[in-house]
Amino acid sequence: MKRVIVLGSTGIVGQQALEVIKGSGERLKVVGLSARASYSLLLQQAKAFRPRYLYYQPGQDTGGLSSEGTEYLLPEEMVKEPDVDVVVVARAGLGALTPTLEAIRAGKEVVLANTEAMVAAGQVIMAEVRARGGQLHLVESEPAALMRCLLGEKSQPLSMVVTSSWGPYRAVALHRTPRIGGPEVLGYPVRRLNQKRAIDAATLMNKGFQVIQIHHLFGIPYERIHVIGHPQDVVRGVVQFADGGVKAVLGSPDPRFWIRHALLEGSDEGGLSIPPVALENLRELGFSPLNESQFPSFQVALEAGRRGGTFPAVLNAADEVAISLFLTNQIGFREVHKVIRAALERHQGVSDPSVEDIFGADAWAREFVSRQVPE
Ligand SMILES: NC(=O)c1ccc[n+]([C@@H]2O[C@H](COP(=O)([O-])OP(=O)(O)OC[C@H]3O[C@@H](n4cnc5c(N)ncnc54)[C@H](OP(=O)(O)O)[C@@H]3O)[C@@H](O)[C@H]2O)c1
Repeated sequence: MKRVIVLGSTGIVGQQALEVIKGSGERLKVVGLSARASYSLLLQQAKAFRPRYLYYQPGQDTGGLSSEGTEYLLPEEMVKEPDVDVVVVARAGLGALTPTLEAIRAGKEVVLANTEAMVAAGQVIMAEVRARGGQLHLVESEPAALMRCLLGEKSQPLSMVVTSSWGPYRAVALHRTPRIGGPEVLGYPVRRLNQKRAIDAATLMNKGFQVIQIHHLFGIPYERIHVIGHPQDVVRGVVQFADGGVKAVLGSPDPRFWIRHALLEGSDEGGLSIPPVALENLRELGFSPLNESQFPSFQVALEAGRRGGTFPAVLNAADEVAISLFLTNQIGFREVHKVIRAALERHQGVSDPSVEDIFGADAWAREFVSRQVPE
């Protein structure tokens, strides 16, 4: 039995991770949960899973929890406990970096759903993984699919391709629409995403973030990572190998699929009804090149990734603040990439950053972008 902590258990991915754990029977056991402010949901989860460790933001009414025989621990402390095998990092924001690094240093297997830490500090995370010989799985379906393509392969990957389904077509349309607000962008029928991820998908920043994560995860140069349009949304990732072979993974973008793959090592347990791709219903698989000049946020992300050092941390923070300015009508949709670019242009980068440098760049970018709102 694997003993699992879920950080950010009250979020979309955190709840999906608990669903996988619940369906695994005796194979997985929850030993820790954490959340920020969704106290009543955390309380329900604590009652259902009876974890040993809990974290919630100070200041909550903790009456219901103290009687549960649980121990209150900071996430960065609970991940080090000896009775923990796996840490699922499903909390949002760069704050996930500290517990992620502590879990890797403590020799725990890490299932990283959090995007921000891997974008902002991918080189720091991977340096720790390599130094400890640790196990790191990503939940984001595109890098996870590429990881699966590499299983059992001896040939070197020449290039890696990720697909974008509706993003390219919609992002162009949105950029051409004169006055577009948060509700129109968020109103598009997509799978369950938090607001930030929904806007990132609309600007195609999400693909830029994926490219940066793939660069760090596999140590592959940026010029060998490609994003292509693929409206059928079936092929998740493709690897072209040095021996001429090409491998693709087709499947669901549902995070539960990838969490189960990571936690249960490919077993189909987990009580999930995620149907396999019905090949007989696929009349065609279409792929088209991405015209990068149509997607300024994607371009900005690649520039930040290629500059490396603290620039991806600035990208991540500037994007987060720019999105909140857009959602509160303080800047327009087409200003989002402009304020991010302005932050990258003004940033004095550090090339081989420490964790402190990354948090410093994050704080600087937040402050800088907040000051970009027109009077
Ligand atoms: N949704 C997806 O399909 C998907 C797929 C792959 C990767 N991801 C990534 O996974 C992460 C979580 O995404 P999500 O969609 O699940 O987000 P979400 O629904 O907004 O949930 C975020 C979780 O993080 C917790 N949290 C936020 N700020 C915190 C803080 N300062 N301290 C402690 N806990 C905090 C929240 O607690 P409260 O509920 O108490 O606020 C909640 O449990 C993100 O990095 C996202 O990019 C998401």
